[in-house]
Amino acid sequence: MNLDQFSQYARLRVDSYLKQQLDTYPPATNLQEAMAYSLFNGGKRIRPMLTYATAAIFAEPNPLTDACAAAIESIHAYSLIHDDLPAMDDDDLRRGKPTSHIYFNEATAILAGDALQTFAFELLSAPSLGQATTQLQLIRELSLASGRHGMITGQMIDLSNIGQDISIETLEQMHKHKTGALICASVRMGALSTELATQEQLQSLEAYACAIGLAFQVQDDIIDITSDTQTLGKTQFSDEEANKPTYPKLLGLEGAQTLAKQLHKQAIEHISPFGESAQPLVELANYIIGRNH
Ligand code: IPE
Ligand code: IPE
Ligand code: MG
Ligand code: MG
Ligand code: MG
Repeated sequence: MNLDQFSQYARLRVDSYLKQQLDTYPPATNLQEAMAYSLFNGGKRIRPMLTYATAAIFAEPNPLTDACAAAIESIHAYSLIHDDLPAMDDDDLRRGKPTSHIYFNEATAILAGDALQTFAFELLSAPSLGQATTQLQLIRELSLASGRHGMITGQMIDLSNIGQDISIETLEQMHKHKTGALICASVRMGALSTELATQEQLQSLEAYACAIGLAFQVQDDIIDITSDTQTLGKTQFSDEEANKPTYPKLLGLEGAQTLAKQLHKQAIEHISPFGESAQPLVELANYIIGRNH
């Protein structure tokens, strides 16, 4: 499978799982509509792709792998709804469409984000998906990556440093937390869902994911400057206008591009022991630093 085929496979698989699970609670309310709006409005599905590609190194992806991919994407969707709120980045455009609080209203957007967050854990804790100890381990992985040990701390560093001159170390901490942690969980959870990875293999995969997770946010900062609004599907120069600390701001555009390439190289080296079976992860790494949206 080339990357396009793999991307289509992962999208179809995670989307059908999400749709089926979202529909298990029937009343078609505004809440349901707002959750669906942010789940199915054109995200690239990079995290589910990482989960499926990692699981496939060890075995055929199983129902637990589907639950992981869907749970991670649900956390991601929630994080974007809240990230766009007026109290946070105050953005009107996401994936080429009005952000949730613009399309619905602020209260609905906040509640849809809350519900998508708990939906993730509802999926992972569903009865009989796998061994209970594995499910518990996955729930813990996602809690750590998305909460105070990960994404939320990253968002806090981001929002409390608007207009400040921060060191490269603080910027790295911010990026590793706000974006890297969930990307890292996408890879680790894919492996854990198969119950077949050794500690050593998990460590190599984590090193790959840590490097590519940071590279992902470095590239996100770069495309805020280099891609236009239509390509991005979000407003160009949003970071600059909000006076956000970013890699291009600290290192210059070329410095940030060089760093993304270095991280990409490190990531690929870490998965070389897996040989051909890790080819989709290599292609995803290429995509992550080459993307323009
Ligand atoms: C955007 O993530 C937000 C960041 C964490 C940088 P993506 O670029 O994966 O967003 P979608 O899901 O494809 O829109
Ligand atoms: C968002 O980072 C990270 C999370 C939502 C956790 P950004 O604020 O850079 O993402 P975009 O650029 O709005 O997609
Ligand atoms: Mg933000
Ligand atoms: Mg933002
Ligand atoms: Mg950004």
